[in-house]
Amino acid sequence: MVKNHSLQTLKIGPVVLPNPVFLAPMAGITDYPFRCLARSFGAGLVVSEMISSQALVRNSVRSVRMAGTAEEEFPLAVQISGSDPVVMAEAARINESLGAAIIDINMGCPQRKIVKTGAGASLMRDEVPAARIIEAIVKAVSVPVTVKIRLGWDHKSINAAKIAKIAQDSGVSLIAVHGRTRSRMFSGKADWSAIREVKEAVSIPVIANGDIQSPKDASLCLGVSVADGIMIGRGALGRPWLFDQTLHFLKTGEDKRSPGLEDQYAVAKKHFEYIVDFYGLPVGLWLSRKHLAWYTKGLHGSALFRKSLNNTKSIDEVKELLKRFYETLLTTPIS
Ligand SMILES: Cc1cc2nc3c(=O)[nH]c(=O)nc-3n(C[C@H](O)[C@H](O)[C@H](O)COP(=O)(O)O)c2cc1C
Repeated sequence: MVKNHSLQTLKIGPVVLPNPVFLAPMAGITDYPFRCLARSFGAGLVVSEMISSQALVRNSVRSVRMAGTAEEEFPLAVQISGSDPVVMAEAARINESLGAAIIDINMGCPQRKIVKTGAGASLMRDEVPAARIIEAIVKAVSVPVTVKIRLGWDHKSINAAKIAKIAQDSGVSLIAVHGRTRSRMFSGKADWSAIREVKEAVSIPVIANGDIQSPKDASLCLGVSVADGIMIGRGALGRPWLFDQTLHFLKTGEDKRSPGLEDQYAVAKKHFEYIVDFYGLPVGLWLSRKHLAWYTKGLHGSALFRKSLNNTKSIDEVKELLKRFYETLLTTPIS
């Protein structure tokens, strides 16, 4: 018997979130089109891709575009990464002026090129510079500040609870915890019970993250971690309706079926249109390929679909290919 969870609104400073089921930040994925879709399926908060504070402060065109916000995706947290408190504070100010409702600090990115600059998960190795960055950002902006962390650098240095306490004492409004250490990268299984230690150490809301692939996982994770909410990343790739299904399950304890193929086609098509509208050509075509591959993954003929997709050169060609793919599935009798 799965426990029903009361899905209350969550208040982060003055920002009221409709529910505590969030879209996790994912570089190269949680752009404006994907965030809009996740919101349309009920995600209580969407988080931008990680934006380099250095690049934003240098006024890089790409970063400024990534930092852009729009009404449909609200409430939106914009995530920044970096290691210099002055630059991070300036980047936070820029994001606030561009409309971010919340500033999120990346303290969990495990990638070598990020950690070698002292940013991302590297900040968990030494609490003093981490505290300086947090304090500088909290002081710089009037919107709420949140932090996304891992359990620690490695299994010998688990310090998520300690970092969370420091963050809380510095004025942070919410902590999201990915239940892995940096050295685990994405391997093994996320440890939801370790997130409970963070929850017990602080009074600000704690959001559990890692390996939530289904509504049942969400419920189990909430039960084990006793967190105030959850954050879904990879589970929503090609399945943004997972937010709706998860909210339904957490409220009622009952499964909600995935949309039928016709509806899945409509969502994939809409996502494609959002992407090409936002990025234009040819970038939109390239960026849409991975998403369309995720939507069609596991469906009959998807390998051939992906191969053909890689040869498309226009919006109409992609639309036609997508239409034919789903039409074939819908009209082929199941043997
Ligand atoms: C492709 C990819 C990009 C990611 N980019 C970010 C990022 O920019 N910032 C961040 O804090 N976490 C990032 N993450 C980590 C996710 O937010 C999340 O913590 C992790 O994927 C575990 O959750 P999941 O199992 O629900 O995906 C990324 C993960 C993936 C797979």
